Amino acid sequence: MGIATDIADDWHAALAALAWQVEAGVDEVISDAPVNRYELAAEAPKLAKPAPQTNAPRQDLAAPPTLAVDAVAAAKAVAARATTLEELRSALAGFDLCELKRGARNTVFADGNPAARVLVLGEAPGAEEDREGRPFVGRAGQLLDKMFAAVGLSRTSPAPETALYITNVMPWRPPGNRDPEPAEIAMMLPFVERHIALVDPQVIVVMGNTPLFALTGGKGILRARGTWTTALGKPLLPMAHPAYLLRNPAMKREAWADLLSLQARLR
Ligand code: URA
Repeated sequence: MGIATDIADDWHAALAALAWQVEAGVDEVISDAPVNRYELAAEAPKLAKPAPQTNAPRQDLAAPPTLAVDAVAAAKAVAARATTLEELRSALAGFDLCELKRGARNTVFADGNPAARVLVLGEAPGAEEDREGRPFVGRAGQLLDKMFAAVGLSRTSPAPETALYITNVMPWRPPGNRDPEPAEIAMMLPFVERHIALVDPQVIVVMGNTPLFALTGGKGILRARGTWTTALGKPLLPMAHPAYLLRNPAMKREAWADLLSLQARLR
C-alpha cells in the first residue's frame, strides 16, 4: 500500500500522521510524480552488501563523545595551587579523574611527622590502608616500622631528627592490589611532587618499583636498591618493598645494609 507524501508542516502532526500510516500498514512511500514500473530494469535490484560484522559500537548508536580531559594537566594545576599539606590533602580528596578512586573507601594521604628529615614513599594502599585511611598499617607496614625503628626512626616521633613521614605514590587502592599503571602514576605524580616540596625532607627513601619509577624513571628495584641517587633535588635511596621482604626474608640482609647507609647519611 502506498500513500502520497503530503507532510503537514507541523512536526507533531507529521509524526502522528506517520504513526497512523505505519499502523495502517503503509510500507512504501511514493512521490507525487508517477513511476512507470514496466520501464524499471527487469532484473531484481542488487542488495547492498551487508556491513561487516564488528563488535565496535555503531557511530550513530554510540554514546555521545565526552570532552577529552588532560588528567595530568588537571592534576598539575590542582596540585600547584596547594600551599599547605592540608590544602593538598583536600585537593587530592576532591580529584575525581583517577578511576581508582571509585573503588576505594578512603583517600590515603600520609602518616607521621611532616617535620621529619626522612620521607618514605611507598606504592599504593592495600586493603588495611584503604579501610583505615593511613599508609603502611598492614603486615608490610608493621615490618616497615620495625625496620626503621632499628635505626632509631619512627613515624610517631615528635623530634624531626628521629621522625619519619610516610606517603605513597597512589592515594587509592588499586583493585586486587594490582600494580598501578604508568598512566595512573603519571596522573598522581604532580601531587607526589607537590607533597615532597611541601614536606621538604632531607632525604627520600623509595620502597619498591612504583615509587622508584615515579621519581627516577628507573626500573628494577632489586638492582637499584642501596645505591643513592638524586630526585627532585634531594638524595634518594631505593630500597626493596617490605611486602617483598616478607615473601623473601633472605633479602632482609640487604635491607639492613640499606638502613645503615641511611643512618650514616643522616649523621
Ligand atoms: N604498600 C605500600 O606500598 N603502601 C602502603 O601504604 C601499604 C602497602
